Amino acid sequence: MSAAPVIAIDGPTASGKGTVAQRVAAALGWHYLDSGALYRVVALLALEEGVDPGDAAGLAALARRLQPRFDGERISLDGREVTEDIRREDVGAMASRIAVHAPLRAALLELQKGFRRPPGLVADGRDMGTVVFPDAVLKVFLTASVEARAQRRHKQLNEKGFPSNIAILLQDLRARDERDSGRSAAPLRPAEDACQLDSSDLCIEQVVALILRWYGER
Ligand code: CDP
Repeated sequence: MSAAPVIAIDGPTASGKGTVAQRVAAALGWHYLDSGALYRVVALLALEEGVDPGDAAGLAALARRLQPRFDGERISLDGREVTEDIRREDVGAMASRIAVHAPLRAALLELQKGFRRPPGLVADGRDMGTVVFPDAVLKVFLTASVEARAQRRHKQLNEKGFPSNIAILLQDLRARDERDSGRSAAPLRPAEDACQLDSSDLCIEQVVALILRWYGER
């Protein structure tokens, strides 16, 4: 029996991957993997347990004992709900720092592959098409200019009632882009067979429709 099909959606921070991937999964009736959430869960535990962000072996050990439960948008860990906690800014910053370690990435590999179940999976992250699901039926590399991404994040934060500053957001996005693209372990880059999609001037609906069309054409 052949494995369930995967659509891989990779791209930089704040490119809209998460929302797009969730909607594509809902439209197809497929499962959804937010791989960034796994890095965030490890980051949260590392912060709480005082594991140093440079301690690759300690972080990998944390990741190996990870048994997160995904229930729709809710994520829990040993019966404790962590959905909101993993979205904190300090957790996101820690996730970006620890994601550079190859042993940690290796420790999360099987966990991620386990999400592949019939009728199919839409997975979003940085290395879905290059490392985790190289045989994905469709690989999308979703980008947007750093300015467009900063504007989107600004709007999102304001809607949640958090004040934010565009200049600081721009600085933060550039730093994360650099860490994601510059690391030696699974750097952020489009798979050779990925379809590139610049969403700077597109709305979510247009991006989702385009991806569904590409999938339909396969
Ligand atoms: O904060 P942002 O929305 O960009 O991130 P996320 O998708 O929630 O992922 C958190 C962090 O995990 C990112 O900063 C990435 O560096 C890292 N990550 C990764 O290295 N590989 C993945 N497949 C997913 C996330």
